[in-house]
Amino acid sequence: MKTATMKLRPFLRTVALACALCLGTQAQFASAQTNITVEVDHPGAAVPPGLFGIFFEDINFAADGGLYPERVKNRSFEFPDPMMGWKQTGDKESKGATYILDQGSVKNIPNSHYVRIKTEADSKGFGLTNEGFRGIGVKAAGEYFFSVKARQVSGSPIALRIELQDETGAVIGKTRIEGLTSSWQKYRSTIRSSATSLKARLSVLMEGRGVVDIDTVSLYPKETWKNRENGLRSDLVQLLRDMKPGFLRFPGGCIVEGSILERRYQWKTTIGDLDDRKLIINRWNYEFKHRPAPDYYQSYGLGFYDYFLLSEDIGASPLPILNCGMACQFNTGELATLEDLDHYIQDALDLIDFANAPANSAWGKRRAQLGHPAPFNLKMIGVGNEQWGPQYIERYEIFARVLKEKHPEIALITSAGPSPDGERFDYLWSKLRELHADIVDEHYYSAPGWFPANASRYDNYPRTGPKVFAGEYAAQSVGIASPDNRNNWECALSEAAFMTGLERNADVVVMSSYAPLFAHVDAWQWTPNLIWFDNLRSYATPNYYVQKLFSANKGTTILPILLDGAKQNGQGGLFATASLDQRSGEVILKVVNITSASKDLRVKLAGARPGRQKGDEFVLASTDMDSVFHSHRGFSPVTKFAAESRNRFNGFSERCLSRDVQLLALMSFNLKV
Ligand code: AHR
Repeated sequence: MKTATMKLRPFLRTVALACALCLGTQAQFASAQTNITVEVDHPGAAVPPGLFGIFFEDINFAADGGLYPERVKNRSFEFPDPMMGWKQTGDKESKGATYILDQGSVKNIPNSHYVRIKTEADSKGFGLTNEGFRGIGVKAAGEYFFSVKARQVSGSPIALRIELQDETGAVIGKTRIEGLTSSWQKYRSTIRSSATSLKARLSVLMEGRGVVDIDTVSLYPKETWKNRENGLRSDLVQLLRDMKPGFLRFPGGCIVEGSILERRYQWKTTIGDLDDRKLIINRWNYEFKHRPAPDYYQSYGLGFYDYFLLSEDIGASPLPILNCGMACQFNTGELATLEDLDHYIQDALDLIDFANAPANSAWGKRRAQLGHPAPFNLKMIGVGNEQWGPQYIERYEIFARVLKEKHPEIALITSAGPSPDGERFDYLWSKLRELHADIVDEHYYSAPGWFPANASRYDNYPRTGPKVFAGEYAAQSVGIASPDNRNNWECALSEAAFMTGLERNADVVVMSSYAPLFAHVDAWQWTPNLIWFDNLRSYATPNYYVQKLFSANKGTTILPILLDGAKQNGQGGLFATASLDQRSGEVILKVVNITSASKDLRVKLAGARPGRQKGDEFVLASTDMDSVFHSHRGFSPVTKFAAESRNRFNGFSERCLSRDVQLLALMSFNLKV
C-alpha cells in the first residue's frame, strides 16, 4: 500500500455527513467520546466512478405520465381498449358519433388505430375528451404544444376546437385547427394555460357537419429538459442530475423481462419516429392485485435513444439491461429456446453498435439520424434482470461467449437473483465465479434493521473474481413492496449506514443504486421509492438526500478508517467511511449514527500534518422521524428535511455530533488536506 504524507492547507472544507437516529424515547445525554482515525497515510482502493448511480424502471408511471411529459394518455388510440382515457363529449344537437377504425387488422402497422368523428347536424363542438395521466398538469402562463393528425373525409368546412378545461370544467386554454384536407396531415398549435391545474382535461371538438378522422393527439409542454422536442420533464431530470450519478440503469427491472416473452422490452421497437414505436402493456399494469393500473402501457415515447441521451445529460454512464431469453420468473418464467437465443444476442450486439459504432456504420448511422453522430460510450450491459436458476446460467454462458468474443471492452452485468442470500443466491454466485463473470447484481429489499446489520457484508468478500453491483436496494419499513411502506427517516438512515459499508469496500463493490426511482402519487404500484411526483411537482425523499450526499461527496481514493482503534464498522451504532479526493485535496468523512444518543467524536487524520483548517459540514436534519413522502398521506415539505451547510468545523481533531433541534441526522466532513 502506498504511503502518503498529506500537508494540511490553511483552508479546510468540510462537507460532513453523519446520522443520528432517534427512535422512540429521546435520550438527552451524550455518549462517551468515539475516536475516529482516518488513515490519510494509507490510501486504499480507487473509488469506482460508478459507485453510486441510478436505477430507472418504468414502474409507478415513471415513464409515461412521469419523466415522459406527454399529457395525453393513449394519444394514438393504441391501447387494447382504444377509447381508454377518452370519452365522447359535446353538444347533443349535433347528433354525432365516434368510431374506432383499425388499419392494422390485416397489415402489420404499429400505430393502426384512429378515431372517426361524424356529425349529422351542424356541430358546435362534438368530439372527445382525454383525462390525461390521472389528470393533466398545466401551469398558469405555461405553454403547451398541441398537435393532431387529421383528415376530413366529407362534409362542410370543418374546424377542430381544442379546449383545456380545469377540474371544474372551466376553459383555461384553447386553440383552433382549420383547413383540414382529405389527406392525413399533422396540425400544430400552441395552447397557453390561463390557470394552474393538476387535473385538467383536454377536448378535441369538431365544429361543422361531416366526417373527420383524427390520430396521435398530443399535448406536450414547451418547457422540457434542454427544451428538446419530445424532451423529458425537467424537474425530474434536475433531481437526477443533482445526484451526480455514476451510471443510469434502464429500463428496469422486471419490465425488461415481461410476464411473458412476447411482452418483454425490445429496444429496437422504442427508437425513431413515434408512430413506429409499438406500444405494449406494462407488466406493472396487472402485477399487484392490490394496486392494479389497467391504464398502464408503454408508449415508448421514452425509448432507448432517449435513455442514452438522458445518461449523457446527467453525466452518468449508460447501463442498458437486456432480456436474455427469459420472462419474469415471478410470472411465467417463459424461456426462449437456446436455438432462438441468437435473436436476443443479436439485439445486444446491435445495441452496442447503435451506441458505439461510428456514424458511417449501419447502426451508427441510425444513431446519427436520430441526432447523435458521436458515440454514447457504452461500457456495460446487463444480461437479464433478476434471473436465477440453471436456465439463467445456461443462457448467460451463450451470451457471454459471443459478446466477449466480439466486444471484450463491454462489461457484462449478471444476476444474483432476487434475494441477498439463500440457495438461489449461492448457486448463482458459485457458477458466476466459475465463469469469471464481470459484475454480479445483488438485490436487497429488506427490513430497516438488515441494512446496518449488513454494513460489513462485503468486508469478507473475496478480493478477486467478479465485482459486486448492489443493483436494487431499499429499506422496507413494513415488508417487501408493502403498500404501507414509508420513505421515512429510519429507512433512510439505515441505508446510509449500509452505504458506508459499500464505500469502504469499493474495491469489491463497484456500483450501487436505490430502487425503484420514481413514483406518481396517484398511480404507483410499489413503495418506497426515491422520488415522488404528481402532475406538476416533485418530492425528494430522505432516502434521496442520503443517496445524493453519498454520491455528490465521493472521493477518488478510499481511506481506511478506525473507530476507537478498531477496523470494524458500526460499533455502538456508529458507522463511518472516508475517502480522499485527489482532485480537490479533500478528505471526505461520512459518519452515520443510528442510535438515540448523540455522540462526541474526536476525528484524527493520521499522517496528515496538523495545521489550521476550516471545513464545511452538511447536515441533513429532521424534526420528524416519520416524515412521510408518500402519496395518499400527502407530502412533507422538503424543508422539514433540511440540508444545511455550515462552516463551523474548527480543527481536524474534534467534533461533537449532538442533536440539532431534535435530531442531528446526517453529517459529512470534507477536510481539505
Ligand atoms: O424495483 C422493483 C422490482 O424489484 C424490479 O422490477 C425487480 O427487478 C425487483 O424484483
